[in-house]
Formats: sequence, structure tokens, C-alpha cells
Amino acid sequence: LVTVREIFRDRDKYLNTKIKVGGWVRNNRASKNFGFLVLHDGTFFDTLQIVYGAELDNFSGLSSLNIGTAVIVEGTLVPTPEAKQPFEIQAESVVVEGESTPDYPLQKKRHTVEFLRTIQHLRPRTNLFQATYRVRSLCAYAIHKFFQENDFVYVHTPLITSSDAEGAGEMFQVTTLDLNNIPKNEDGSVDFSQDFFKKPTNLTVSGQLYGETYAQAFRKIYTFGPTFRAENSNTTRHAAEFWMIEPEIAFADLQDDMDCAEAMLKYIIRYVLENAPEEMNFFNQFVDKGLLDRLNHVMNSDFGRVTYTEAIKLLEEHNDEFEYKVSWGCDLQTEHERYLTEQVFKKPIFVTDYPKDIKAFYMKLNDDGKTVAAADCLVPGIGEIIGGSQREEDYDKLKQRMEELGMDMSQYDFYLDLRKFGTTRHAGFGLGFERCVMYLTGVSNIRDVLPFPRTVNHCDL
Ligand code: 4AD
Ligand code: MG
Repeated sequence: LVTVREIFRDRDKYLNTKIKVGGWVRNNRASKNFGFLVLHDGTFFDTLQIVYGAELDNFSGLSSLNIGTAVIVEGTLVPTPEAKQPFEIQAESVVVEGESTPDYPLQKKRHTVEFLRTIQHLRPRTNLFQATYRVRSLCAYAIHKFFQENDFVYVHTPLITSSDAEGAGEMFQVTTLDLNNIPKNEDGSVDFSQDFFKKPTNLTVSGQLYGETYAQAFRKIYTFGPTFRAENSNTTRHAAEFWMIEPEIAFADLQDDMDCAEAMLKYIIRYVLENAPEEMNFFNQFVDKGLLDRLNHVMNSDFGRVTYTEAIKLLEEHNDEFEYKVSWGCDLQTEHERYLTEQVFKKPIFVTDYPKDIKAFYMKLNDDGKTVAAADCLVPGIGEIIGGSQREEDYDKLKQRMEELGMDMSQYDFYLDLRKFGTTRHAGFGLGFERCVMYLTGVSNIRDVLPFPRTVNHCDL
């Protein structure tokens, strides 16, 4: 079978030759003597028109084919200079692989994204999801390409862990205990001696701590895998299962970290614009009108950089516009993040040096004793897409901070060891993969950039 992508990309090779294609019927209309099938074969955003005539012995069957039917078509690819599409296939045979029924949910009309979320197994057949998941795939490839070209080693960190990398306690527990009959110790606590690992374990919220161990061996590493958070946040940008990219660089400080993040985002944008022009035009036309202009601008300008303290000053002047009023020490809400990127800077920015009390235990304490060397990257339309920091490399300071926070030190020996055996200045960040795809496509709900989204109250398929 020739793919529609091959036909569009290498048309001179196939024009006026006999070819065979396979795909699904997007539309079918027939008159007495001939009919048209609109065929989508999944390899290319655009469809291919098939003309079939009454001379085919299954003509009457074809003229009543339902949308969604899988067919294999053999015929000649001919140019159609007057038509909207540059060519069509004049069919010599159309073989039905698998019929579809009249109640096929994807009929020839616009469906709402809300409806499409109820048919997650069928929605990849629509234009919106064809474009989204091809861009998602290319985006993943671009990320690997960026890091590999820059000599980062890809590390596979575990999904089941016994530590809480963010210290935020938002974890899904993993257990083989019978939840209807949980074994208890005499003091009432759970008896883990009967559990698979003989201790409490959870799905990872971040690969960072493991990533740091490999950075202290390979200097530059990255992870790229699923992460899980039992955050009770029912928003358009939170999922319970999402993918994260976490580079970690030894002998690097916060500036190096931000430079790396900025170069990576620009690389991804460029790669996707170059390799998915049809999809990106579709998003620009139907999903987010200013998308291409905005991305082109981002590729060719510097990200803004502002400290948390400066950002709070800027935001305080507009407190009357916010649902949550800001003051020094508070965490930034989405409305504040979006205000900074959309109203003040009008481009992606890094906000740096957050108060230590609203950030994770591993971040390096600044000389002021109040803030940490953190950098979040915020973008218009979404807010935070990257959270990063320079790490505390000093054994005593790190241990003291962990004790202050009352952490269970027994889980973190390995992490403290790194500060004992040849510690280095080091930094890293986490890019939320879905938020990155949202940013690239203009798709505004995380439920639509994940093939099978898991969010609060929803694990549907
Ligand atoms: O800011 P976060 O929590 O940082 C970390 O996990 C660090 N360990 C990263 C590091 O320094 N190596 O998460 C990083 C990013 C966020 O900026 C956001 O884009 C995404 O992960 N993220 C989520 N995406 C979707 N759904 C959620 N529930 C998310 N939580 C975080
Ligand atoms: Mg964060």
C-alpha cells in the first residue's frame, strides 16, 4: 500500500500511475453513474478523493457504504487542476475490508470536544485529534532529539518508588494488600509485612531524585516518562497521569538551567513547525487564531526573566483584578501567571527566586536565607509549563531543611549520599509534556492532548 503521506510528499512519483491505498471512508456520496469517497488513511492530515464508476461490479454496494468503513482502493492517481484537492484516484477496484454501521458516532459534522471525550477510542479519527496526536508524537521526538544532540543520556527512572520526590504527599499508593481486609499491627497501623514490597510504596510524582543520581555520574541526563499525582485539582491543566521531561545537569547553576529550558522550547517549536505544517495550519485556523504568529515570535526573541519579588510588586498593583490577592510569600495562581505572561510581558517568562516555604525541599537556598534558586517557566494561555531549580548541594544545609520539614530521612539516604561523595553544583527542571503540547497547538484542555486522560473522577477507558 502507498500512503497518502507518500502521495502528497512525492506526488511526481505517483501521478498517472496505478497505486493501491488503504483507509477509512470519511464521506461518501453517489449518483446513478458514479460516486466519490473521501478517504483518510491516517498517515497524512489531508484526505484523498476516490472516484468510482458504475462499471465496478460492486458499485451499488459502494454507493451505500457508511462513513467509517475501511477500504482498499486500487486505481490511477490523476491530477485535478480545477478541484480543491490536487489529485484524485480513479478507482479500478474498491475492496471493503470492514464495514461500518449507520450509527457510527463520527458523522460528517462538527462534534464538540466534550462529546468527543465520551468516545476516546474513536476520537483519534477526527481532524482535531489527528492533528493533536501527530504533533504530540513529533514533540516527543523533538525533545529526545534536542537532548541527544546535546549529549544528554536518557535515563529510565522507576514508576514505583518508596519516596516522595516533591515532598507534597500527593501520591497514589501501590499495594497488593486486600483493601477489604487490611492487615493491622497491634498499634492499629497497617502491617506492611504482608505487602509485596514489605513497605509502603507509591507511583512516582517525579523522576528527579533518581535523575540527580545519574547526573552525578553522566553529567547531563534527562528522563522522559509518566508521572502520577493525586492532586485534587479539577482544572483544564491538571491530570492525574501525565508525562514529564526532567533534565539534570551537573556543574550547572540556575542560569544554565534556564538557558537549557529556553533552547529546548525553541527547538521543539521549530521542529514541529517544520515537520507538521498541515497540522499547525489547522490549529492556527480552527483552534487558536494567533498561534503561528505567536510561536514564530517566541522562536526569535528572548524569554523574559523576573524574580518572584519583582513579579509580586507588579501583580500587587492589579490586586483588584484578581480573585486571589497576592502578597509576598503567596504561591502564584494560574490567574497571576497568565496575567504576567499575557498582560505584562506578552511572551514566555521565567520567574525566579521564590520563597523557600512554597517550594520543594531540594532547592538551593539563596544568600538572603528566604528564597530559593527556583525558576518556573510561564507561558501565555497556560501559565506554568516548567518547574526547575538549582539543587541544594550542601550536605548539612539539605539535611537541616529536610529535618525542618519533618521528612522521613530513612527514605533519602541515597539522595544525601550524593552530597557526601563528590557533590557538585547542579540544576534541572521538569517540563510538563501535556502543557507543552497545549502550548504548541492552542488546545486549551489537558483532557484533549492526552490520548486517554486520567483526571479527578475520570479514568474512563
Ligand atoms: O513543578 P513540578 O511539580 O516540578 C517537579 O516535579 C520537579 N521535580 C521538576 C524538576 O525540577 N526536575 O512539575 C513540573 C511540571 C510543571 O511545571 C507542570 O508543567 C507539570 O510538570 N505538571 C503537571 N502537568 C499536568 N498535570 C499535573 N497534575 C501536573 N503537575 C505538574
Ligand atoms: Mg511547579
